[in-house]
Amino acid sequence: MVSASHLAAVAKRLEGKVALITGGASGIGEQTARLFNRHGAKVVIADIQDELGHSISKELGPTDTSFIHCDVRDEAHVQNAVDSAIAKFGKLDIMFNNAGIIDMTKPSIFENEKADFERVLSINVTGAFLGTKHAARVMAPARRGSIIITASVASVSGGITTHAYTCSKHAVVGLTKNAAVELGRYGIRVNCVSPYVVGTPLAKNFFKIEDAASVYSNLKGVALKAEDIAEAALYLGSDESRYVSGHNLVVDGGFTITNPELSIFN
Ligand SMILES: NC(=O)c1ccc[n+]([C@@H]2O[C@H](COP(=O)([O-])OP(=O)(O)OC[C@H]3O[C@@H](n4cnc5c(N)ncnc54)[C@H](O)[C@@H]3O)[C@@H](O)[C@H]2O)c1
Repeated sequence: MVSASHLAAVAKRLEGKVALITGGASGIGEQTARLFNRHGAKVVIADIQDELGHSISKELGPTDTSFIHCDVRDEAHVQNAVDSAIAKFGKLDIMFNNAGIIDMTKPSIFENEKADFERVLSINVTGAFLGTKHAARVMAPARRGSIIITASVASVSGGITTHAYTCSKHAVVGLTKNAAVELGRYGIRVNCVSPYVVGTPLAKNFFKIEDAASVYSNLKGVALKAEDIAEAALYLGSDESRYVSGHNLVVDGGFTITNPELSIFN
């Protein structure tokens, strides 16, 4: 957590910007909403958890934030969320396509059901596609914007999570690259951030852990927090990353660059 005195000494990095965060009512999205707010952005929280979303928005203040019910699988909801950011705050500078789920039942390919597989893709991939599409619609005329998608270490490594989740996170890296190429001509950047295990409700349910640090990690003495991913999103959303596009920013303490069983340093 960044202290108030530290922040006072650091310039607000999103002053005057407007951000929309899907999955903003919990975990990484919630912490990003809080950090963006502290850095001067107006934030629209879009989620299916209405009570949580409303309470965060209320806490951060109705002049600077709002909550909108949005199921990212539904194009009308996503369109409406983007339009409501424009209606309330006049523009959209940052779109954080962060909503996601992980499937927990029958992970083996021999048992995995088609419906379970498609459910994960409909949120993690189609949701990110719809968010990118509708953000681009309003960002292109402004000739600027930053679109960010939450991928995962499962976007670069296999066997850590289920087939559907791994496929979905590989897919959003492809979406990021394709959209970055098409939207570059409009001055719109598209990137993704790939967290290692963060102790949010999603990860705790999947890995059955209380503390993310208890899972194997390369970097010792530090437990990855949702705030660390929020900091990465802050960088990608701010002008400090103004020439960064099509990038997958892996935040994993080096987890995906090594195989500990073969390391000569053990
Ligand atoms: N926690 C981790 O270890 C981890 C690691 C890598 C990537 N991620 C990714 O980070 C993102 C955020 O997950 P989190 O860990 O903060 O989990 P979380 O469960 O705390 O938050 C996810 C949010 O997405 C919302 N959501 C789910 N389905 C939705 C839908 N159809 N429409 C709109 N909102 C919906 C949920 O209500 C929730 O508020 C996800 O994309 C996840 O895949 C998480």
